[in-house]
Amino acid sequence: MDSKQGRNGLGSNDDALQAEHEKVLGKQPDENGHYRLLPLNLLFLLSAVILFGGTYLGRFSGYFHPKVYNEYGLPPKAGAESAAPAVDPLVLGKNVYAQVCAACHQPNGMGLPPAFPPLAGSEWVSGSEERLIRIMLHGLQGPIKVKGVDYIGAMPAVGPGSGYNLNPEKVAAVLTYVRKEWAGIDVPVSAAKVSEIRGKDGTRAPITAAELEKIP
Ligand code: HEC
Repeated sequence: MDSKQGRNGLGSNDDALQAEHEKVLGKQPDENGHYRLLPLNLLFLLSAVILFGGTYLGRFSGYFHPKVYNEYGLPPKAGAESAAPAVDPLVLGKNVYAQVCAACHQPNGMGLPPAFPPLAGSEWVSGSEERLIRIMLHGLQGPIKVKGVDYIGAMPAVGPGSGYNLNPEKVAAVLTYVRKEWAGIDVPVSAAKVSEIRGKDGTRAPITAAELEKIP
């Protein structure tokens, strides 16, 4: 077949077709002398839209992470994946103190002599952690000497299974708070230690000062 002869039989050849296409593609002016270029304004508009869209997604997409909607792309906090949010033991302890202990030992920790001994300045609060944990878990049966004064009362247990039913985490937190607040001790009491002593001692009758003094 003659290559100059169009296949459609209408007399066009390859050069004519090519020329026609190039007009359509905008490389040549059409019959009216117009180039079919993209209008320049539209080009700027589209550029602006793409720039805005890209910037927007870059800032607010949260990296398209399936789990986290983190629009500012801040680095995840340590432990953020774990179920329970970390609670500051001093904050928790302060709350527990206000709800459970303050009624007797007073919000300022000064107690209410002669019934309730003070925690502020108490040698028991500044003393052995093991003894303090046992007072919480078992309760305390007087007499007990605090800052030179004898108290003959009884403190109820506040730990797991008691009327207050504080879990080991809350017992540890309230002791951490009490020691920090009224003895200046900045070493937290751990929930694990509370559980350990609970496991060793089990549930028992209120402990006495005489028994506590044998515990280091
Ligand atoms: C129902 C009143 C009551 C509540 C509630 C109570 N206590 Fe006591 N607490 C006492 C009494 C009474 C004593 C002294 C017991 C005795 O005479 O043997 C005491 C003794 C103590 C002691 C040892 C003596 C001293 O003053 O240092 C500590 C420590 C203590 N309580 C801490 C706490 C903490 C912490 C809480 C809260 C989790 C708490 N108590 C809740 C009544 C209470």
